[in-house]
Parts: sequence; structure tokens; C-alpha cells
Amino acid sequence: MAEKLAIRGGTRLIPEGTIKKWPPIDETDKKLVMESLLGANHAFGPNCNAFQEEFAAWNGNKYAITTNSGTAALHMCLVACDCGTGDEVIVPAYSWSSSATCVMQHNSIPVFVDIDFDSMNIDPDKIEQAITSKTKAIIAVHLHGLPAQMDRIMAIAKKHNLKVIEDACQAHGAKFDGKKVGTIGDCAAFSFNQNKCLCAGEGGMFVTDSEEMLEKARALWSFGETITDMKNRDYHVYSMGWMYRNSDLNAAFGRAQLKKLDDYLAYQRESTKHLTELLKDVPYLILPTSPQKCETNGYNYTIRFDLKAMGCEEDASEFRYKIIEALKAEGVETGVWQRFILPAMAVFQAKNGYGKGCPWHCPNAQEVDYSVEQYPMAQKHCDTHTGMTMPLRLPNDLKTVMLMADGFRKVMENIDQIK
Ligand SMILES: Cc1ncc(COP(=O)(O)O)c(C=O)c1O
Repeated sequence: MAEKLAIRGGTRLIPEGTIKKWPPIDETDKKLVMESLLGANHAFGPNCNAFQEEFAAWNGNKYAITTNSGTAALHMCLVACDCGTGDEVIVPAYSWSSSATCVMQHNSIPVFVDIDFDSMNIDPDKIEQAITSKTKAIIAVHLHGLPAQMDRIMAIAKKHNLKVIEDACQAHGAKFDGKKVGTIGDCAAFSFNQNKCLCAGEGGMFVTDSEEMLEKARALWSFGETITDMKNRDYHVYSMGWMYRNSDLNAAFGRAQLKKLDDYLAYQRESTKHLTELLKDVPYLILPTSPQKCETNGYNYTIRFDLKAMGCEEDASEFRYKIIEALKAEGVETGVWQRFILPAMAVFQAKNGYGKGCPWHCPNAQEVDYSVEQYPMAQKHCDTHTGMTMPLRLPNDLKTVMLMADGFRKVMENIDQIK
């Protein structure tokens, strides 16, 4: 007999309060954060220096600079790659907004490339047709913690003499062909915001193996100064700069969480695999794939609803929200991530960056077309997905994973009740 869905007045499956909050806090966090609080330096202090060194060692990079956001670290990548006025930078059509707006921050122009539906990452088959004489770099986003096809991307970059920036903001510890993300391209950005696998409250990290890139990024990071030794700082501005430094308190929190990151990631890999196993015979779900050579960090478990099979293709996005409401009513913690593909956002459609047409009408720029029909896979993904993060992370356990799977099964097997 059909079970009555909670949204139709049936009993809620998963009790309120089941999902524990992220990240787990223990004595390590309290000790490091309290020591910082009681210390003498609340700006860029000893924890910032230690955090940079420890993160570089953990990830396998020569150099790291801690920042106050992943977006700041991305902007530093652009500068490290010498992107400037009129230069074009290739970006996937579906990502977080600042994967693309970081390009405009240095007066360069994003050029979007559609995604591959299965991996949800940039489609390497479509990159070359977007390359022009103005192209300077490719931003490879490792979306939802799954590495982009880095072998293909690096080969294209080499052929066309382009730089590769890894947006690893969601992908701490993910691996492509056995190599950690952030060690494959020319430079990379990580984020440590609230939702990330390494949470420092807010914050980010710029990483590279190139000393030249390090120096360019460092100048932007601190007011355009180049002196790095605080004792010998000359307060002279040598180039255009921002204030992207991190605070000691955030770095202390980040250091404490970094000590536990490998355990977090090991659990996320287990919990996401387990969920795939439990969901594999649930109707109308398109589950995440594991492309060859790619090891996810399990950041955001992203499912697409097969709305065509349900006969609801016309109002796909609308019906997807109804399913999510039904899932939430059962206590399944899931939701839509980005509601718009990047080129459809007003900033690109109106070409409204710095005003007065910049950067699109700056000297050296050429016309770029943002008509949304060019990105059908990104749009399809955007309209049909739902994601899950916290229930699949510590301190939750595999019982929570089972409950989430039960919630999906209950709703999808009774989909007629919400049609
Ligand atoms: C793919 C991606 N890039 C960049 C960012 C920006 O990171 P932050 O919020 O730390 O600036 C995020 C943050 O959500 C992200 O998910």
C-alpha cells in the first residue's frame, strides 16, 4: 500500500534534530582559538603563518598564502597568471558566481564553456572552440568536490600556451589520477567558508609552486606592497592591491580543523558511496558518477531528477521544487545550489561590471556573446538538481545516511502524490 507523504499529511519519516551541525568542534579547536584570542596578535599573526605552511605541506604545494576568502584567492590567481584588460579567461557555465566574477575583478573577460552533464564539470570537448587570440587562462572548477578532467585541460592549455587556474574551493583532498587538486594547474584557490570541508568560519588559500606567481599574488594580497617581512615593511605601494589578508583567529580555527581533515574526508567518501548503494534502485534519480581517474572528496552529493521519465519535462524546474518540498517535509536535508547558470546572470547579460561598459568595452577587448542557448547541459543540470552536504558529514553517522536514503525512496516511490 502507498505510504502517505508527510507533505500530504502523513507521518514525517526523519525526526527533527536528527542532523548534527557542521563542523565538529572539540578541544583542539577550543585550545587553538582561545590561545589566539588571548594572544597579542589579532591581525595577520603567528597562526596565519603556521596555517599557510601546514596547508601547503598537507596539499603538496611549495607555497601558500592565506586569505580572507576563496574569492580573494581566485583574484590572486588571475593576477599571478598576468590576466589583464581585454584578456579572456575560460570558465565553466555552471559554478559559483565568483568563479567567473574574479575574472572581471582584474578587467579580464569571462568566456563560458558548457559543462559535461555526467560529471557536472567543464566539458573538455568544448574548450578549444572557445579559445581566441585573447585567451589567457582556463579556470578548471572541481565542482561539488569532483576533479575536472585535468589531463585533457592541461593538454589543451599546453597546446595554446594558456595558464590553468584550479578553483578548488569545494575540493580539498580530491584527487585526479592520484594527484591532489591544487597541485596540477599553475595555481589554485581554496575556500574555508562555513560549508566547506575545511571550515575556518571564512577564509581561503592561494597555492602555487611558482615563486614568480607567489610574488605577484602576494603584492595584490596586501595593498600592492611587495615587502613580506613585517619587520622590514616599507609601506610603499608598487602595484594595484587589495586587502585580502586573513585574521589570526580564523587561521587558528582553520589549523585545528586541518588536523582532522583527513578523517572528515575518509568518512565523506564512505558515506557518499554508501548513499549511492542505497539509492541505486530508487526510481527517477540520476546519481553522481565516478569518472575514470577522479576521486571525489564527497563535498556535495548532487542528484538530478529524471523529470523526462516522470513525464514532467515541461515544468522541470518547477516540479523539482515540489519534490524537494516533499523531501524536506520528510526531514531530508536537501536543496538546490545555484539557481541560474552563470551566463544567464544579470551581470553578464547586461554586461554590467565596473560600469561604463568595463571590462567588456575596455581597450583591447573584443565582443563576447553570452546567449544562454550555448549552454544546454548547464541549463539541464541547473533545472533538475538537488544537493546534500551536512547529513553525509561527521559528526553524523551511517544511520543518518540510511535515513536520508529512506526519505528519498519514500518520496520517489510515491511521486504520484505530488504530481
Ligand atoms: C566553486 C567555488 N568557487 C569559489 C567560491 C568562493 O569562496 P568564498 O566564499 O570563500 O569566497 C566558492 C564558495 O562557495 C565556491 O563554491
